Amino acid sequence: MGATVKYERRGPIGVIRIDNPPVNALSHAVRSGIMEALAIAATDDSSAVVLFCDGRTFIAGADITEFGKPPQAPSLPDLLLTLDKHPKLTIAAIHGTALGGGFEVALTCNYRMALATAKVGLPEVKLGLLPGAGGTQRTPRLAGIPAAVDLITSGNPINARSALTLQLVDKVVDENLIDAAAAYAAELVEQKAPQRQASTLPLSLTREDQQLIEVAGAKLLKKTRGERAPQRILDCLLTAATQPFEEGLKREREEFVACLADPQSAALRHMFFAERAAGKIDNLSQDGQAISIATVGIIGAGTMGGGIAMCFAQAGINVTLIDMTDEAVSQGLEKIAKNWAISVKRGRLTAAQTDAMMANITPSSDLNDLAEVDMVIEAVFENLDVKKEVFAKLDGICKHGAVLASNTSYQSIDAIAAATTRPESVLGMHFFSPANVMKLLEVVRGAASSDTVIATAMAVGKKIGKVSVLSGMCYGFIGNRMLRHYGREAALCLVEGSTPTQIDSAMESWGMAMGPLAVSDLAGLDIGYKAREQLTAEHKGDPASYMVADRLVEAGRLGQKSGAGYYQYDPETRQRHEDSAVMAIVTEVRRELGITPRLFEDDEIVNRLTLALANEGAKLLQEGIAQRASDIDVVYCYGYGFPRFKGGPMHTIESMGLDKAVTLLKEFQNQLNPEHWQIAPLLTKLVANGGQLADHHGV
Ligand code: 3HC
Ligand code: NAI
Repeated sequence: MGATVKYERRGPIGVIRIDNPPVNALSHAVRSGIMEALAIAATDDSSAVVLFCDGRTFIAGADITEFGKPPQAPSLPDLLLTLDKHPKLTIAAIHGTALGGGFEVALTCNYRMALATAKVGLPEVKLGLLPGAGGTQRTPRLAGIPAAVDLITSGNPINARSALTLQLVDKVVDENLIDAAAAYAAELVEQKAPQRQASTLPLSLTREDQQLIEVAGAKLLKKTRGERAPQRILDCLLTAATQPFEEGLKREREEFVACLADPQSAALRHMFFAERAAGKIDNLSQDGQAISIATVGIIGAGTMGGGIAMCFAQAGINVTLIDMTDEAVSQGLEKIAKNWAISVKRGRLTAAQTDAMMANITPSSDLNDLAEVDMVIEAVFENLDVKKEVFAKLDGICKHGAVLASNTSYQSIDAIAAATTRPESVLGMHFFSPANVMKLLEVVRGAASSDTVIATAMAVGKKIGKVSVLSGMCYGFIGNRMLRHYGREAALCLVEGSTPTQIDSAMESWGMAMGPLAVSDLAGLDIGYKAREQLTAEHKGDPASYMVADRLVEAGRLGQKSGAGYYQYDPETRQRHEDSAVMAIVTEVRRELGITPRLFEDDEIVNRLTLALANEGAKLLQEGIAQRASDIDVVYCYGYGFPRFKGGPMHTIESMGLDKAVTLLKEFQNQLNPEHWQIAPLLTKLVANGGQLADHHGV
């Protein structure tokens, strides 16, 4: 039967035992093994069969690595057909997570028992898929349409007790799962319990259900910005409620196959593995072991420091939050309390929880209070001299071995580290605003940063719920260095003839959470303005790329905070409206630069902006600033609102074909400012060799 599946007997009960670490995914070997075990159990003298998994979890789904490869029999639907018709009573014994195809196996069994700590769910939508082995047909038959819509379109797992309430699980136990499941099986046999098949349960479509599906469809269309799998799921659920089970299965299979072939699913599956790869650091030395972090000092109780403090306090880690004066730190604490109060109001947290989190934060205006903390994160003003002064002081105060991190957006980690006598303890930990919400953390390795501090920052990031990505040292690190090129092209499209609305709408229709000019308005146009003031003309780049922004600021249009920027904002709804005053500034800039405006196609905007990102990304990869192309994709999807269903800028050009990407880049080089479009040598090399970005490792 192979090493991954065993068939054993516990007295009269047959036990199919699956052991395929790490998550018991339904690989070909597991499917074949279960099929063989079912065949034995069908003919031996067992009275019932329990399906049980070794290791940390029940089956966590189909083996995602097999998608896109030639199918190998038995398929999961065929296996489940056999399971559904099995002559013996079948019971799934669930611990850990029964997800996707794993939960579909459980739903096909006659009964389900779960440990109280277990979770069940159908997360396929997060991979651009839908449950492809009866999940869309069995779930509504057991739990009803509303619960099925929720579970399958959100992809979020639910705990065992909720599953019990929804009748997706029949019994919950606190411990000794395999013993309890064998006893449950014996009890069901004793009671002559029927072989309950979800496939035979009746289901009809009420008017309320129909309405619910329609409303969910409209909401999802807006929320997912063009993802197709959620709509396909709703179609399958509608079929479940209006057609016989076999017809529903057929429809589900067709939709599943369509999803699997959809580039959106390829992109989302790429992101699944990209996120997990990002946590791994290449060539970490033996002493690169993370140290445990129990206490953290955060310096600067402003926008970022406050948000970062919330992340740690929420994870149960003690924080000492420092600002220059008691008043400043109190203001920071008030903001934190206000943010948490909103979460309580929205029902996301209880008042008791936020009290406990607040108790994890100790305010102070004395840096000496950081003498014993394990890690310090500095989030003071973005000014190198101020930061150097802070680090020089920390050097004299903090205990040996403390990790000293800066949240700087642009400053040199090496210059900051040089202000201390222990540059090996210094690194960058670049959070994104709002820090308590945004999932990305760039961990920036300075020239002297030790492997220990890097490993520690990556581990701490995971602990506080961030997706951490390692970046080498350069101006803007991975994300902001690429963003300059994206922002430049957006600004240039505007002066060359487009409008703010066209640029933002083109990017939003393509999938970006928010268009580039709307993002600038949200962040505040004054931030870029002040940053440019500190740069030389050469570093500022092409004046055409910032003249409009400068004039907007000079006209008092700082973005949303002043009610106007690239747009006029409705004070009540914050809705943006195009503003003739902005177009007057644009016209003036065009005249000064001698630009005759031309008509723009949305496609040109999308291609220019995404290729500007990817071209710079390829340079980062080549320079070894990024470890892998997929890390860059993680940065953009988690830090910059890039649509996960496009898989990030690097996946975007990989899936369009690197040769096509280079052809477009060459066109831009010929037609636009060639200095802006110097093609990354890595791209031309990969096209020449027929190589892939995915195979290239930054050093
Ligand atoms: N297939 C292949 N590999 C998988 C996998 C899967 N379904 N699920 C996890 N893995 C791998 C991960 O890539 C990772 O590999 P690595 O160590 O080499 O990086 C390893 O297993 C451990 O995974 P995590 O780091 O994610 O471990 P956690 O303990 O944090 O999480 C989990 C465990 C909750 C099970 C999480 O891995 C998960 O959500 N997995 C995906 C579940 C899923 O999406 N299932 C549906 C698949 S599609 C399907 O079933 C279609 C069907 O309807 C026909
Ligand atoms: P902020 O101005 O909101 O907060 C800075 C805080 O630091 C203020 O409360 C100030 O009183 C305090 N401070 C200044 N000097 C200090 C000192 N010597 N000791 C103690 N406290 C001191 O600034 P913000 O936006 O929070 O930025 C902080 C850092 O985070 C900057 O380096 C910035 O580049 C970076 N950053 C900012 C992001 C953003 O979107 N705002 C995003 C990512 C990083």
